[in-house]
Amino acid sequence: MKELKIESTIYVFDDLDELPKDIVMLMNKAIEAREKAYAPYSKFHVGAALLLDNNQIITGSNQENASYPSGLCAERTAIYYANSQYPNNKIVRMAITAASKNNKTASPIPPCGACRQAIAEYEVKQEAPIEIYFMGEIGKVAKSNSLSDLLPLIFDKSVL
Ligand code: THU
Repeated sequence: MKELKIESTIYVFDDLDELPKDIVMLMNKAIEAREKAYAPYSKFHVGAALLLDNNQIITGSNQENASYPSGLCAERTAIYYANSQYPNNKIVRMAITAASKNNKTASPIPPCGACRQAIAEYEVKQEAPIEIYFMGEIGKVAKSNSLSDLLPLIFDKSVL
């Protein structure tokens, strides 16, 4: 038997103003996207903004459905659109923000497992890490340098 230890590093900033201007700008795009979320069922509004290596910014918000599983998270709405429109461009970074209509989210809210798997696909495809910044509505902002820090032991094409 051998023990395998997995280490991840996440950086936590006290608030958005601690971050460089271009990151604040990307997070502001995610906030704008969040405000367009269609989340009448959960009242949990999520926005995501992606920066591509051609300087395009792609945004997405969660889109819910009366048939609940037919809805889609903000991160996947954005990343699938990005790869549909710009299949040859790399994703440099992603900013994510989540706000609930029921209470003010004040701590960083990481992407769900399904979104991490979707982001992992593109990180593998582009052979370059995707930086991920995530926050609630207010307060601290967390950053991972790569999706692999949020999802160790990914399932990817190498096993197929
Ligand atoms: N949601 C996202 O958009 N991203 C996540 O990473 C987690 C959850 C959405 C899905 C659903 O519309 C609502 O938040 C509540 O789960």
